[in-house]
Amino acid sequence: CFILHTYIEIILLIKTNLMNKKPIILGIESSCDETAASIITENKQGLPTILSSVVSSQTDVHKEFGGVVPELAARSHIEKIDLITKRAIEESGIKMEKIDAVASTAGPGLIVCLSVGLSFGKAIAFSLKKPFIAINHLEGHALSPMLNSELSYPYLLLLISGGHTQFLSVQGLGNYKRLGTTIDDALGEAFDKTAKMLGIEFPGGSQIEEYAKKGDPNKYELPKPIFYKGGCNLSFAGLKTAVLRIVKQIKTDQEKYDLAASFQKTIEEILYKKSKVAFEEFKRLNKEKKNTFVVAGGVAANKRIREVLTNLCEEENFDAIFPPINLCGDNAAMIAMVGLKKFKVKQFNDLDYPAKPRWALDENAAFLKGAGVKL
Ligand code: KG4
Ligand code: ZN
Repeated sequence: CFILHTYIEIILLIKTNLMNKKPIILGIESSCDETAASIITENKQGLPTILSSVVSSQTDVHKEFGGVVPELAARSHIEKIDLITKRAIEESGIKMEKIDAVASTAGPGLIVCLSVGLSFGKAIAFSLKKPFIAINHLEGHALSPMLNSELSYPYLLLLISGGHTQFLSVQGLGNYKRLGTTIDDALGEAFDKTAKMLGIEFPGGSQIEEYAKKGDPNKYELPKPIFYKGGCNLSFAGLKTAVLRIVKQIKTDQEKYDLAASFQKTIEEILYKKSKVAFEEFKRLNKEKKNTFVVAGGVAANKRIREVLTNLCEEENFDAIFPPINLCGDNAAMIAMVGLKKFKVKQFNDLDYPAKPRWALDENAAFLKGAGVKL
């Protein structure tokens, strides 16, 4: 009887341990010019925990061309993906066979780049006999603040990256309603192009902030397209043309700093105004007691933008949430984060899941691009 009792206790112990086992997710990212891998899990309280996050940027590969060259980017992903993934697994201290699922970015992005991380992730999942999860890169940015903040749906998201600029109402996992979008350039693109015109080496977007600190923000008057119309849609193309016109007349470094400062200030004013409009649209849609505003994507690393939008949130009684600076740009922890959420609701994908160069978060939203769009 004693033996039987002990046996039952052991079985119960194993069962509880298995039930309490926290999922371990491997995330892989290769949609543009960052090769990244990450292992995340949950702590005892059920909050996501990053065990490792390795990001290898291809800045040196593309520097001499002044922009990302798809063929070179893909080659570089192929060269590095296994090493970066191996490092992420080693740094996590987790044995490879303990991984519960593999999540890879499947889109949007450059197809030749996406294919590398996607195929690699599928191969690992297949060899480990574990589920494979295809991730939308933009959903990675959208959920990235969950890696360091408790966040509940619905929330308003301003996604500002190199390829996208949108206001979205995030209703739930995989459930997005677009409130506004850029009708031409993405904000990161506007930063990068302005940097290039000022002679800053690629990728220069983040340098604008540094230049701006040394300049006079009121020196140049720059346009704010569709500032008073078009709801919370945005436009940056006219700004770029204005910068180009001024750059041609610039002679000194001080004038460059002044132009960077004027550009930075104009962007702050546009984001402040348009976010305020988006707040109203979000409130009309959701009627929450307490509202949350999340700002994510590469441009969310801009400290002045963070400050201005935090102030707006204080004025408008919204909670402001930003991912930590190192998780604003492309990384695989955010991909694993979406993987973790999908794993918990068993949203798995087949191994023939295609790379999707275009993949909107709100697939019902109308296409809004180009001059002549009626707003
Ligand atoms: O999210 P991300 O890493 O890649 C995409 O998914 O596009 O965003 C990259 C963009 C680039 O355009 C880069 O210039 C911009 O984010 N960026 C910044 C800053 N840091 C990165 N823009 C303004 N200020 C920054 N501090
Ligand atoms: Zn990104």
